[in-house]
Amino acid sequence: MAVRASGAPADVGIKFTSTPVAEIEVDTLVVCAPPEDKAWDAGAAAVDAALDGALKVALTDAAFSGKTDATFNLPTPGRPARRVIVTGLDAGSATGEDVRAAFGAAARAARGAKSRSVACVVPDTGLDAATAFRAATEGFLLGLYSFGAYRSGEEPVEVERLVFAGEETPEATEGVQKGQAVAAGVYLARDLVFEPGNAIYPVTLAEVAREMSTNVELEYEVFDERQLAEMGAGALVAVGQGSSNPPRLFRMTYTPSGESQATIALVGKGITFDTGGMSLKPHDGMVPMKTDMAGAAAVLGAMRAIAELDLPFTVHGVIAAAENMPSDTAYRPSDVLRAMNGKTIEVISTDAEGRLVLADALVYAAGLGSEIMIDLATLTGAKMIALGAESVAVFANDDDLAKAIVDAAGEAGELYWHMPLWDQLRKQLDSEIADMKNTGGRGGGAITAALFLSEFAEGKRWAHLDIAGAAWASSASGYTPKGATGIGVRTLVTYLERLAAQT
Ligand code: BES
Ligand code: MN
Ligand code: ZN
Repeated sequence: MAVRASGAPADVGIKFTSTPVAEIEVDTLVVCAPPEDKAWDAGAAAVDAALDGALKVALTDAAFSGKTDATFNLPTPGRPARRVIVTGLDAGSATGEDVRAAFGAAARAARGAKSRSVACVVPDTGLDAATAFRAATEGFLLGLYSFGAYRSGEEPVEVERLVFAGEETPEATEGVQKGQAVAAGVYLARDLVFEPGNAIYPVTLAEVAREMSTNVELEYEVFDERQLAEMGAGALVAVGQGSSNPPRLFRMTYTPSGESQATIALVGKGITFDTGGMSLKPHDGMVPMKTDMAGAAAVLGAMRAIAELDLPFTVHGVIAAAENMPSDTAYRPSDVLRAMNGKTIEVISTDAEGRLVLADALVYAAGLGSEIMIDLATLTGAKMIALGAESVAVFANDDDLAKAIVDAAGEAGELYWHMPLWDQLRKQLDSEIADMKNTGGRGGGAITAALFLSEFAEGKRWAHLDIAGAAWASSASGYTPKGATGIGVRTLVTYLERLAAQT
């Protein structure tokens, strides 16, 4: 296993330099250029001047669109650098997300061109320096990401050195450091999602969390299957009982250095592999199910970032981890389970296992004194039908909480949409024998799954993020290479940062 539970993202050293752009000694120089009808910023114009205007000519010849995510590679043997990579960005109207995407695309192009060292000209966007350098750092590091743990043969060439052309101000440095902290969290989440089920199962996932907690100074506690049975976590125990890899519930807790303004729980679905259990999935649907712990991965990643960002909240990261397997010890359709709050559940489908493990995790998190609980889960195929694969469905028993999360996602550049939690659909979960069934039929499947979870919110302000599909990108774009996305980490961090700024 090669999970970067502790290290900084990649091994990229980041520095500033006041050397004129034409003289910085690197393989690759990155500059931003706008669509043709828009004005160039001073930094990009200086690079063009160093090339006697050849850059603008080349971009015009190539009909470079200047749109975010468009890149252009100009060989410049020797001076400046060995190549200039132009990345589309209209500095005059750029948001943080535009900067992130532009530098992410540039990073993918620089890595593709086998660059070891890169200098970046960060344009003057009108954003404050902390925001701009954070976005550039985050975007660049996230775009460089790749998962090579299981490839043999020659090591690929990686970017080892990143220099920002310009003055090193305290604001810019703060931006870089925050960008590094966030990127490290996303790297961790992506690594965990890429890892297959034979490497990451409940015990190893719990070990990664323990190691990470030690490294960034979080409190850590774990419960094994015997303790879980004693605690009354009958739903989590049932889901895990079919596998020789036993289930785990674990907690990472961040305590702020100053006064804590609130206690918040981030709760992750950690199904390390979802075969469907006795309600076995068809083969094609089963193959991607190593990603069914992406909610847990996002919580681990967010906790890692939170530990470095000095936020004024007590934050519990709670993970319910199990492997959903069919076997002679597996739970069955028709079994009745009792969750930690005493509520009983009739199992209709053993493939609706995520809501079962989350039921116990939510009750446990509520018991820690959490005022706000946010769970993340690859919960339903129905979410992908409703909103598409890339998006996240937000359900909440509190509209203000849902809005705050959707707004944070907008800033972070993740696609979130507030969905209804209609009580009228609750009857789809009615059971003849228990308090509820674990499935509610085909209609409104993402909503009935959320309604099921709401039974375990224990009166707290609670939101549920259905991230099914969003954990995996089928193609690369901006700062997201193909594969594990780390969805959720940046929205959670942004939500907490905005909450801290309000209070
Ligand atoms: N892990 C799946 C949901 C999923 C599907 C995530 C595809 C990502 C991609 C979940 O455990 C599941 O199997 N849900 C069932 C629920 C149904 C049985 C009520 C589903 O959505 O089909
Ligand atoms: Mn399932
Ligand atoms: Zn699942």
